[in-house]
Amino acid sequence: MFETLKTAPADPILGLTEAFKKDPRAEKINLGVGIYKDEGGTTPILSCVKKAESRLLQEESTKSYLGIEGTEEYGRSVQRLLFGNDHPIVTGSRAQSAHAPGGTGALRIAAEFIARQLSSRRIWVSDPTWANHANVFQAAGLEVVSYRYYDADAKDLDFAGMMTALKQVSPGDTVLLHGCCHNPTGIDPTPEQWEILAKCAAEGGWLPLFDFAYQGFATGIDEDAAGLKSFAEHNPEMLIASSFSKNFGLYNERVGCLTLVADDSARAMAAFSQIKSIIRTVYSNPPYHGAGIVTIILNDSALRTEWEGEVAQMRERIRDMRELFVASLKARGVTRDFSFIGRQHGMFSFSGLNPEQVAALKRDHAVYIVGSGRISVAGMTRSNMDALCDAIAKVL
Ligand code: LMR
Repeated sequence: MFETLKTAPADPILGLTEAFKKDPRAEKINLGVGIYKDEGGTTPILSCVKKAESRLLQEESTKSYLGIEGTEEYGRSVQRLLFGNDHPIVTGSRAQSAHAPGGTGALRIAAEFIARQLSSRRIWVSDPTWANHANVFQAAGLEVVSYRYYDADAKDLDFAGMMTALKQVSPGDTVLLHGCCHNPTGIDPTPEQWEILAKCAAEGGWLPLFDFAYQGFATGIDEDAAGLKSFAEHNPEMLIASSFSKNFGLYNERVGCLTLVADDSARAMAAFSQIKSIIRTVYSNPPYHGAGIVTIILNDSALRTEWEGEVAQMRERIRDMRELFVASLKARGVTRDFSFIGRQHGMFSFSGLNPEQVAALKRDHAVYIVGSGRISVAGMTRSNMDALCDAIAKVL
């Protein structure tokens, strides 16, 4: 039966990593996938993670199944991380959380929930958005439509265009929002704009679904939840897909969480029971290890402080790389204005490089970036910066 099957196209992000690994050139640079690298070019295990992990290994006494949603402690820790300890959503038990395998797992469960339980199967995503969003939502049977987000000329958010599009959203539709560090543009709404968007959702009667994969990478752990909190103030219901791949560096442990917020505790429990039914048919119940590490760190004040320091270090190193990148291109006589890269947040920037320039970077200089022109700034280091900027100056 298999002889009739055709080869699937390579994934635009992870397929690039496969090609990068096979490239024999020693000087190759991978700015494709969003993985943090330190100055030495490695993806470190955070020191707080190592400590929590060794405690977990000493203390755990069973490998028995978890409940369908994972542990209650993990769910509560994630809710406090999102909203703060004293937020009415937390104190009023208006949220329920399920540990999902990675942010992608959380998004897929959210998509299945929307497809099976809600009145509209339409989801709106920003244009552009993460290359895998449409695939994940379509796989669950959702209709994916886009709203305007990016002004390519100004290299900035087209907020007026975004608002015009979001006013067209029908009541009951879902709108996907990036909690912070928009992937791929690195451009987020301001706190004032978040407030306007939150009111627009309430007036339009649409369901906000937050993809929150970079909490702590823009300005700070709490500051980065400003948009989410604005929505919580004006909207009784929402879904949040958290990922702890980046901010805990737990990429291969697949730690994510799907949080459902309703207007009271009983409604949250009823809606969440449907999420549990979906999980049971997809992966039955979640793995423990990564969530165990996150739970220990978030509930131990010394480890939590250490974690916040390590997130700040990653955030600041990326910010330094943004500045160095802009300055290094300028030093090479590049006249095109790349200063917008210094104003963006998180791991990514939309460079404005076209597909031919992206192809030439890979072919002639062993520099890998995503076809859309998205650059993972988190992969830049002081040692690869000269080679990178020489290459870009040549292909421009
Ligand atoms: C990315 O956008 O590079 C990351 O979120 C990793 C991935 O799975 O695509």
